[in-house]
Amino acid sequence: MSEISYMSDGPLDRVRVLLGVSGGIAAYKAAELVRRLRDAGAEVRVVMTANATHFVGVATFQALSGNPVRTSLWDESAEAAMSHIELARWADEVLIAPASADLLARIAHGSADDLLSTLVLATTAPLSVAPAMNQQMWANAATQANIAILRQRGVRVFGPAVGSQACGETGEGRLPEAHELVAALVAARGSRLLDGVRVLVSAGPTFEDIDPVRFIGNRSSGKMGFAVAAAAARAGAVVRLIAGPVALPTPAGVERVDVRSARQMRDAVIAAASAHDIFISAAAVGDYRPQMISASKLKKSGQPLALELVQNPDIIAEVATLPKRPFLVGFAAETDDLERYAQEKLERKGLDMIAANQVGESLGFECGENALLLLWPGGREQLALADKGALAQSLIERVAARRTAKLEHAGNP
Ligand code: C5P
Repeated sequence: MSEISYMSDGPLDRVRVLLGVSGGIAAYKAAELVRRLRDAGAEVRVVMTANATHFVGVATFQALSGNPVRTSLWDESAEAAMSHIELARWADEVLIAPASADLLARIAHGSADDLLSTLVLATTAPLSVAPAMNQQMWANAATQANIAILRQRGVRVFGPAVGSQACGETGEGRLPEAHELVAALVAARGSRLLDGVRVLVSAGPTFEDIDPVRFIGNRSSGKMGFAVAAAAARAGAVVRLIAGPVALPTPAGVERVDVRSARQMRDAVIAAASAHDIFISAAAVGDYRPQMISASKLKKSGQPLALELVQNPDIIAEVATLPKRPFLVGFAAETDDLERYAQEKLERKGLDMIAANQVGESLGFECGENALLLLWPGGREQLALADKGALAQSLIERVAARRTAKLEHAGNP
């Protein structure tokens, strides 16, 4: 068996990796990376920037990947074989190694001026970048700002490593070794607990309009729901995110539907619910809305103003009554008597699990950290205070386990 033959049960078994190589002396290390990715079971297609071709030849990557290498948007024969849009759709993972300072700047700002940056915009696959550059260029405020933008969008950043550099300097900016990059990619993909499972997530607040300029809202930031959607996608799920009005970037690989009011959220959730295996309702749905939305801006009258409010539909409770209902996970944000109220909601709404969190001073809403108490029929588990990303990951692991237990129980009553 040759070293680069296809490994059927490696940690990246059949994963389609689009490897982007940008210009920098570390580009030569990407050749070893292709071999390592294939050893791990991945199928690899390489896209090089024009600058990268000054460092390594196309033929090297062609031979190692076993696939044609693309370098330009304007290669008609290559476009005819697999267009850049098909290539973007083909990828399960996009990994850019090395990612030069210039490439990071271009993708941070959404430019699409060559094939690689265009693919980054066109794909829904998770994106990982492994920056490599001179240590001063890495430390430069512009590069750091670009990296911060990318991280905030859910782009994974591998490295850079510290050590001696090709330019003779020593510092932070080296490309991690090929085996380290493969390990980072495998770890970032998580345990694929929800491979192919369809997960619907609601997130954020709802806004209930009073008139064209005013609304009733709440302090939900949407961060927890977005983190849950991202964690589900990392676990291999096909994720649809119904988002209330928040200014958060869409997590990689997630299909997003934006809504504003509780009734719009209800319609989007009900339309999708039966086609999903799991519904995680992290949205803080407004309980009430004004009975009437005034068509013109309400004026001060010098008198008290009474708003007549009517109750909104309880979305998750309605999903629980559907003939083909998904596994249902609710959230309960409480200021006091957390466990008692959460337990009561679990039962009343007919949920499979509820994630309860204490809200109040510096906890819960509008912040990056949280602690969750998970309750399900017959069990409970406390997840300690952690950032919302880590907490979302733990939640997804518990949801996958409880759902499997429920399915097994249904199969063997
Ligand atoms: O009743 P309460 O709002 O505390 O319940 C919280 C859970 O119910 C959350 O999962 C929330 O997304 C969901 N919910 C809903 N529709 C509502 C109110 C809450 O789906 N109208």
